[in-house]
Amino acid sequence: MHAWQFDRYGHYSEVLHWVERATPEPGPNQALVRTVAMSLNFPDLLIIQGLYQHKAPLPAVPGVEGVGSVEAVGPGCKFEPGDRVVGFSHSGGTLADYFLVDNHNAWPVPDHVSDADAAALSVTYGTSYFALEHRAHLQPGETLLVLGGAGGVGTAAIQLGRAMGARVIGCASDATKLGICRKAGAQEVINYRSEDLVERVKELTGGRGADVVYDPVGGDAFDLVKRCTAWEGRIVIIGFASGRIPSIECNRLLLKNMAVMGLAWGQYVDRGSPLVGAAQEKLYGMLKDGQISPILYRTLAFADVKQGLAMLEAREVYGKIVVMR
Ligand SMILES: NC(=O)c1ccc[n+]([C@@H]2O[C@H](COP(=O)([O-])OP(=O)(O)OC[C@H]3O[C@@H](n4cnc5c(N)ncnc54)[C@H](OP(=O)(O)O)[C@@H]3O)[C@@H](O)[C@H]2O)c1
Repeated sequence: MHAWQFDRYGHYSEVLHWVERATPEPGPNQALVRTVAMSLNFPDLLIIQGLYQHKAPLPAVPGVEGVGSVEAVGPGCKFEPGDRVVGFSHSGGTLADYFLVDNHNAWPVPDHVSDADAAALSVTYGTSYFALEHRAHLQPGETLLVLGGAGGVGTAAIQLGRAMGARVIGCASDATKLGICRKAGAQEVINYRSEDLVERVKELTGGRGADVVYDPVGGDAFDLVKRCTAWEGRIVIIGFASGRIPSIECNRLLLKNMAVMGLAWGQYVDRGSPLVGAAQEKLYGMLKDGQISPILYRTLAFADVKQGLAMLEAREVYGKIVVMR
């Protein structure tokens, strides 16, 4: 089969190559999936550099999310050949003609969901759904502040926050991205590059601060939002796209009865949590009802994966990049 492969860790422009490699064989509880659509995610950049929490054994194929039809199954597999499925793999593997999934990290895709939507939905919406519903317990009428609001997980968080009845403030670094935050459903937007984030949040919340902060950015942005989170507020840590892992003084948590919590969606998948499959079904239902709708920045051909990674790296992407095979 053909695949994008790296033999050593490094920058994708140097180490990622289009190669012919052996098609994997499904073992017990596994299915071999013939890829139709894949999505690119920020972690792909980290995985190829060996900087992600999961290191793929070399030579490795990147890509954590893919959609396709089941070609062959191993003993005990929950799928049948011909099933249309979406699969997730922490250590990569989907940017290939075929990829393997296990029973715990793949789900059937209903007919009403397009290949592109299925490829764009699991990681970003799964992450944002778990963050807002399962971790932060976002309530109708609460204010949700979304950092990196035009990004993959950010647009999903804005849409889900609105669907959950919150008042959503989207934050982004330029006018185009602020427009995307509004398109996703944010009632208010803040340019956190040019505006005073703390003052604007206080202004928009009558001095109270945001009840829930969704943070995939970290770094300087986190240093600011910890100063404009409401009494009994919750900050959900999603990632550190800015490149810096921040910290917080515990007295802030005490004095404001605040909580800072992490959310790593892939950990629920790896631990075989039944919540993941239930969330997938819930999200497909919300898609059908028009409550959510993935925003696609580009749909690329399989040969153009490196261009897509360059777009992610340049911070120009809004929503998702989907690759069609
Ligand atoms: N916890 C989980 O389960 C989980 C799941 C998926 C992703 N993540 C993490 O969440 C983060 C965002 O992922 P994503 O797929 O949404 O990425 P994305 O689409 O590239 O969005 C990231 C956003 O972060 C902002 N940003 C701020 N500083 C940046 C920088 N130096 N470089 C790039 N972007 C920067 C950008 O918005 P502005 O330009 O508007 O600031 C960008 O839109 C990543 O750290 C990723 O690893 C975590």
